[in-house]
Amino acid sequence: MIREILHYPNVSLKQTATPVQNLTGDLVQAVDDMVETMYDAPGIGLAAIQIGLPQRIIVVDINHEERGKELLKLINPVITAREGDIIWEEGCLSVIDYVAEVKRSAKIEIKAWTPDEKEIILQAEELMAVVLQHELDHLDGKLFIDRISRLKRELYTRRVKKLLREGRPLEAPRKEAAGI
Ligand code: NI
Repeated sequence: MIREILHYPNVSLKQTATPVQNLTGDLVQAVDDMVETMYDAPGIGLAAIQIGLPQRIIVVDINHEERGKELLKLINPVITAREGDIIWEEGCLSVIDYVAEVKRSAKIEIKAWTPDEKEIILQAEELMAVVLQHELDHLDGKLFIDRISRLKRELYTRRVKKLLREGRPLEAPRKEAAGI
């Protein structure tokens, strides 16, 4: 089932997600819904908090050509190592109509659990490293606009508030690359 994606400035996006203790049937269903919602958006990453579920779960699939081939469903992911810096233009399914350059670690190592409770360790670089760090930020209630300059953030915030005041829906067309 496709779920509704929450948009900035929805305060739920600021929550710190809690670690998954038990992957119950409801949560397994929620993970599948996250994948469906991500593909529908279309996006290449989604955190559970973006559908209003404050649990430490993310789904990622950066392969646009063959959907599902490189799909990752990660439970309780943590970064265990990082190296170097990279600057990448990011957007977000929860931040409508905006992209900005963000500085992140160039290479990371992640430890996580799969839905069938296997522990995995992943090494990632470039886009994959960016997407994973972006999604992990969501789990701590952080958006990519929290990592840009205050000036840029305020200009964006003002634009969104104006749209909301005018009662205009936040449904501006999204760029494909903005889907994380
Ligand atoms: Ni995002």
